[in-house]
Amino acid sequence: MKKTSSNLTLLGGLTPEQFFSEYWHKKPLLIRQAIPDFTPLLSAEELFELAGKDDVESRLISFFKRNWEMKNGPILSLPLKEKKDWTLLVQGVNLHNKKADALLRQFRFIPDARLDDLMISYAKDGGGVGPHFDSYDVFLLQAHGQRRWRIGAQKDLSLIKGMPLKILSNFKAEEEFVLNPGDMLYLPPHYAHDGIAIGDCMTYSIGFRAPSFQEIGESFLQFMSDSIDLPGRYADPELTSSANPAEISQSMFSTISAELTKIKFTKDDMTIFLGEHLTEPKSSVFFTSPEKTITPKKFALSAQKNGVALSLKTQMLYKGKNIFINGESFSVSKEDQLSLHKLADQRYLNAKDISSVSADVMEAFCIWYEDGWLEFARIENK
Ligand code: SIN
Ligand code: CO
Repeated sequence: MKKTSSNLTLLGGLTPEQFFSEYWHKKPLLIRQAIPDFTPLLSAEELFELAGKDDVESRLISFFKRNWEMKNGPILSLPLKEKKDWTLLVQGVNLHNKKADALLRQFRFIPDARLDDLMISYAKDGGGVGPHFDSYDVFLLQAHGQRRWRIGAQKDLSLIKGMPLKILSNFKAEEEFVLNPGDMLYLPPHYAHDGIAIGDCMTYSIGFRAPSFQEIGESFLQFMSDSIDLPGRYADPELTSSANPAEISQSMFSTISAELTKIKFTKDDMTIFLGEHLTEPKSSVFFTSPEKTITPKKFALSAQKNGVALSLKTQMLYKGKNIFINGESFSVSKEDQLSLHKLADQRYLNAKDISSVSADVMEAFCIWYEDGWLEFARIENK
């Protein structure tokens, strides 16, 4: 996490610490001109093109004749231009567009492990996704046109049954704001909201990851099932005859429970699980390998000349000697930690940084390059 105590225009002049203590998880914050003179990072046409791709998550939501409908992408055709009341949502735009990635990274005062993605919505006049709540924090940045947000702190979060999307049964707005390009609204988890486009508009949602403990627990047990080691097989050389053939004997139960209690979860297991889990690419993510293969020698020469950067889709985290990248983990020496932590934090290493990486790290970089996880990047003056 970028430790900064400076006042951020993005947070309406607050420092991240002030924002965390007063607003984060607590109450909404409206920031007028969070990004002054903001203009959309991609055109509506470029967004429509992304929505048509197989490796991009998108949804088309409409409210024609007072009837909610939702279609999952790829979205290859949109409603007629004259139609109102529809919204196109494109998830993970930061994975495909450098400018969108750079915008998301402005929110790195919040750790990468919590940052999810940049979703862009395009709505026709009157369009929206209905009154709802989200289970995670969100920053809603107005990118193009205007949107009216109505929000409320209601406790009643019951949903209308049988809907294709989450719509609150009893939405009661307490506040209302019209956002213009560059304005941003922060909402804590479970805060009811409804955003309606005034004319055509585009809104960027900077969303966060808040995995449920159940989801984490299930994945952890799955992870452990690959690593437990319980040699041997059940046997009962002392078996005696039983009057109750359907009863599970105490001796069988004791033997099996003694074996099961040998399964121990160590702190290391949990660290490795968490890092691999948090960096696991979403199922829609595909990496593109470079067109031409390269010898390790040529790779090293080019990396030393240009520097390297993580590709947009790469997730890299670390905890001490454990390095995690795209669902894989490595335990590295103290010396290699320095360069790998720097790569994860900056998301690039310049030519000077590269000059001090070990042969092992260079070898790993070459493999990551071949897998499309890492690219050459000339980063000047850094
Ligand atoms: C939208 O941009 O239309 C929806 C964003 C949200 O309500 O979370
Ligand atoms: Co929402």
